[in-house]
This record gives sequence, C-alpha cells and structure tokens, in this order.
Amino acid sequence: MALGQHGGDYTGFVAGENPFFDAENHQCPRFLETPLRAARSPGMKHALIIGASGGIGAALHAALDEKRAAVTGLSRSADGLDVTDEASVARVLGALDPEYDLIIVATGALEINGARPEKALSQLDPSALENQFRVNAIGPALVLKHAVRLLPTDRPARFAALSARVGSIGDNRLGGWYSYRTAKAALNQLIHSAAIELTRSHKKLACVALHPGTVQTAFTRNYVGRHPSVPPSEAAGNLLTVLDGLTPEHTGRFFDWAGKEIPW
Ligand SMILES: NC(=O)c1ccc[n+]([C@@H]2O[C@H](COP(=O)([O-])OP(=O)(O)OC[C@H]3O[C@@H](n4cnc5c(N)ncnc54)[C@H](OP(=O)(O)O)[C@@H]3O)[C@@H](O)[C@H]2O)c1
Repeated sequence: MALGQHGGDYTGFVAGENPFFDAENHQCPRFLETPLRAARSPGMKHALIIGASGGIGAALHAALDEKRAAVTGLSRSADGLDVTDEASVARVLGALDPEYDLIIVATGALEINGARPEKALSQLDPSALENQFRVNAIGPALVLKHAVRLLPTDRPARFAALSARVGSIGDNRLGGWYSYRTAKAALNQLIHSAAIELTRSHKKLACVALHPGTVQTAFTRNYVGRHPSVPPSEAAGNLLTVLDGLTPEHTGRFFDWAGKEIPW
C-alpha cells in the first residue's frame, strides 16, 4: 500500500489503521461542552514556547501574539536549545527572567536519524528507542526542571508538554510504534510526577500533558494520509482554549485538544 493511503506504510497490527489517527479526533465533544468550561481562570499574558520553530509551536506563538500576550519563542534551530543536551537547556533558560504564566514545550520528533515508527517488534532497535526517550521524554522533563524557577508561585500558571494520544497505554488498541509510544508514555509519567511535587511549591500551577490532535505539520507529512487532520492554526486555537480553562485541580492530568481527559 502506498504512503498516504489508509494510514500508509506505517500501520500497526490492524490492517488499514494507523496509530497516528485517533478516531476521536473529530468526534469527541468540543471543549466548551466539557467540565473544563466552568473552570476558566485568569489569562495567559506572559508566555514561553519551547520549540517555537515547529509547526504547532509557531502556530501557538502566532495565536498568542494575536491575543496580545508577551511571547518568548525558543528553538533548537534559532537559539541552540537542544532538549537532549542539558547544558544547552540550562544555558538558554538560565538567561530568562521569571515570571511566565504559561510555558509550553512543543518540541518532539517521530522520526529521528532516519528511524521510522516500528510496525513490528522485530524492527525494535535499542538506539532508536533510546533516541526517542532522549527527545520526547527526557527533553521536556529537562525543560521543566530548568523552567520551574520561571513559574510564579503566588498566582495561576500553566506548564504544558505536548504529548500524544498514542502514548496512552489504556487507549492503545493497535500496537506498533513502540519507541514513540513508549517515550510519550514516559513523558506522561514525568509530567504527572512533577505535577505532584510542584503542588507543594506552586499551589496555583496546572502542569499537564496535552494531545494536540492530528495536525498538518512536517511531523505528520508521511503519516497522516487521508485521515482527518487540522491545520496548525486550528490546533493552536484548540490548545489555547484548553489551557485557558485549566486550574490547579487539573494538574498532573492528560487532556486532548478538546479538553477531554485521556486515560494513562
Ligand atoms: N503533528 C501532530 O499531528 C502531532 C500529534 C500528536 C502529538 N504531536 C506532538 O506535538 C509536538 C510538536 O509537533 P509538530 O507537529 O509541531 O512537529 P514539528 O513541526 O516537526 O516540530 C518539531 C519541533 O521540535 C523541535 N525539536 C526536535 N528535536 C529537538 C531537540 N532535540 N531539541 C530541541 N528541539 C527539538 C524542532 O526544532 P528545530 O526545528 O528548531 O530543530 C521543532 O521546533 C511533538 O511533541 C509531537 O509529538 C504532534
């Protein structure tokens, strides 16, 4: 089967399906119909985006600009912030002054050094798995480690890492994509654990993992095929609506683009 047709060449174990496509993407209730609606909290005026060179990161930057927020965008390509290199994370974030009431980590990769998502266990490669952990799990955790000092302790703030629904163990019905799925599952655990710790020092913080939906970026170019997807501008609008509704009661949890909670 050619790439781009019914999930292309990267199907899981069920013929004609692709883990990238989340069936709920266009079926789950819109954000405004979810319980988060009632939880709207003060705005996001001072924002930091890590991975601002990416499809979703750039769209988040543009959307926040439109809302007249003060936005700092950082990336590997423009600022030398490589999330796999703690010294670079410490150096770049160390140059910033508190306080950001919104920090979003929009970095990530599906293919690293030419390694594509596995279709079968026989394709599992230790170095590809390790690279996935470095970029998609350890990287955002290092950002959080060095960004804690940038978050206010006395007023509402949000920290969000872009995860992926395929990182959900409870939602995994197709298998495959071992390395990416596992790295995102590890990211979710890191965010959840950090959120618990930060409830002590940052009582008004919501620290969450977010699934942005299936978004038309370089990331999905070879995988999205004919599956429903949205442009980055729409994804950014959805994510900001979810973020806007977060309060401390949501900390440590995993939400999709519509504000619907995803099982771990
Ligand atoms: N697109 C989707 O449908 C989709 C679905 C589910 C989850 N997500 C998640 O959403 C996030 C953003 O995806 P996207 O579609 O915007 O991807 P993208 O357009 O490919 O952008 C990827 C971003 O990650 C950065 N990056 C990659 N490796 C890095 C590293 N080692 N250090 C620092 N930055 C690094 C890139 O920086 P440079 O370009 O500057 O190197 C770029 O800013 C990812 O975490 C992805 O897993 C996306």
